Amino acid sequence: MDRRSLLRRTLAAFPAYALLAEFAGSSVVAGSGKAARSWILDQQDLALALARGEIPPKRWQAEVEALARQVDLAELVAEIGRAEARHIGRALPSYPVKRSLVFRDETGAPRKLRYACALFGFDRGNVITPHGHRHMVSAHLVIEGAFRVRTFDRLRDEPGAMIVRPTSDTTIRTGAVSTISAERDNIHWFVPRTERAATFDVIVSGLDPGAPPFTIQAIDPVRGEALPDGSLRAPILGFEEASRFYTAEI
Ligand SMILES: [Fe+2]
Repeated sequence: MDRRSLLRRTLAAFPAYALLAEFAGSSVVAGSGKAARSWILDQQDLALALARGEIPPKRWQAEVEALARQVDLAELVAEIGRAEARHIGRALPSYPVKRSLVFRDETGAPRKLRYACALFGFDRGNVITPHGHRHMVSAHLVIEGAFRVRTFDRLRDEPGAMIVRPTSDTTIRTGAVSTISAERDNIHWFVPRTERAATFDVIVSGLDPGAPPFTIQAIDPVRGEALPDGSLRAPILGFEEASRFYTAEI
């Protein structure tokens, strides 16, 4: 099967994501960028270099952001369509649907990679509430629609709270990526700006030997305490409490 018919078949198999409509009229043209399989292997090289301590997290973020600018998004979506879905679920009713995916190699066998992949499908009311991470990095590539993304640096932890500083509040669209690490933008928050929206996520966890593979904690920057230096003391919240307050309207 040639690439174009593969792509058509993949897109037809993704009725939940109006990807064809997204690509029509966009600047994304099949064949215009880095081949998707090369992107998958470049991500592997970066994940291994990060996990071995050969590059710092900030460098991983910069390289992953550069890869997102180079990749042929239509081809990558075709690879995502070929991937094996291992778990499908929604952490909370207000959360997007998460599909844990494993890429396949040329023979159809699951690829063994140092990073994990997930596809998050959002309806308009689904929100990923503000939260911080430990022992991991992640990159969120928009493959459908648009999101308001707010990020914060995590300056330090206090009992029951994180001291954070806002770093960005932007709308990102198909083809754009947003990344987190311990060094930059450790806290993120995603609210869709279109009826349907989706991100494809690359996650490298287990970065700190002796620590859990990762930790994720919801915080409450909106009701946080402003500190004199412009930072915020944001209380740590339970995720259910966070999902009640952090609706798509905030
Ligand atoms: Fe996250």
